[in-house]
Amino acid sequence: MKVQSMSNLRRSRRLASVIEAIGNTPAVRLDRIGRSVRGVEIYLKLEFANPGGSVKDRPALSMVRQALATGALSEDKILIDATSGNTGVAYSLIGAALGFRVELVMPANVTRARKDITKAFGTTLTYSSPMEGSDGAIVLARELVKQNPERYFYCDQYSNPENPLAHYRGTGQEILDAFGDRITHFVAGLGTSGTAMGTTRRLHEHSRKVHCVAVEPAEALHGLEGLKHMASSIQPPIYDATVPDEILPVATEAGWDMTERLGAEEGLYVGHSTGANVHGALELAKRLQREKQEGCIVAIACDRGDRYFAPMKWERRYTW
Ligand SMILES: Cc1ncc(COP(=O)(O)O)c(C=O)c1O
Repeated sequence: MKVQSMSNLRRSRRLASVIEAIGNTPAVRLDRIGRSVRGVEIYLKLEFANPGGSVKDRPALSMVRQALATGALSEDKILIDATSGNTGVAYSLIGAALGFRVELVMPANVTRARKDITKAFGTTLTYSSPMEGSDGAIVLARELVKQNPERYFYCDQYSNPENPLAHYRGTGQEILDAFGDRITHFVAGLGTSGTAMGTTRRLHEHSRKVHCVAVEPAEALHGLEGLKHMASSIQPPIYDATVPDEILPVATEAGWDMTERLGAEEGLYVGHSTGANVHGALELAKRLQREKQEGCIVAIACDRGDRYFAPMKWERRYTW
């Protein structure tokens, strides 16, 4: 057991605003989970280290910055979008920090924790049908904007080019800074597809040899929150199926099992989409081993597991 001394931890920085804490996330080696596969290293880039707790802080900030720069978003407008949670937390945090209002459209059955977190930032929530999932939220958000175009700035994470660009400039570049030519494989799940599109484009620009894999749920009805089964969903306009080198279906059970392993074996308590990504990474590692090749795989940890606790209640006052 090796423990680094505290003097090696350089996280202490002075920041002018919480939004400056977005990005520059660490990547940690999965020593135990990867141990069975000799010659292949697996790393997880910890996007839950962003202040909003997920990979979505990056695109939310890029989309907001662009909208403020063009004047599409101003203090008299409300930022609205459809989100199953993490982008909503990110918009809410950034809205509170920069001083604009946020309204989120989400399926009514999103976890209590996600609703409470966004409300804690002062955000307004509008619920779409729990039966229609994230697609129902998209349709309702579009309707609200159509009825009241002057009131809203529709951020539209599914179509906004700043979503993948945030990962092109941020996630992808940071992976290259940390791994350089050592990286052989990259794994990210498909939700809006921003992470996979932007990061893959940056890595491919560096070298076409980096094999980039997009993980998607194997089933249309699945339990990998944050991920989309593309064939049965509204395809996000930013999604281009020709960008990844491979699309790897992962079953819900496999993603959930790996999520439990990450907690118990690596001390990483993560959401189920991260479990799916690491399951995909381990499948790739086994494939490399069968082919007697070495490799360095980087996968994305999208968020932390405690975001899925239900019911979870924020108590203003404790009573004994
Ligand atoms: C938990 C979780 N995992 C994965 C994703 C997928 O990321 P992207 O939208 O960049 O495809 C999301 C997106 O919302 C998410 O919330």
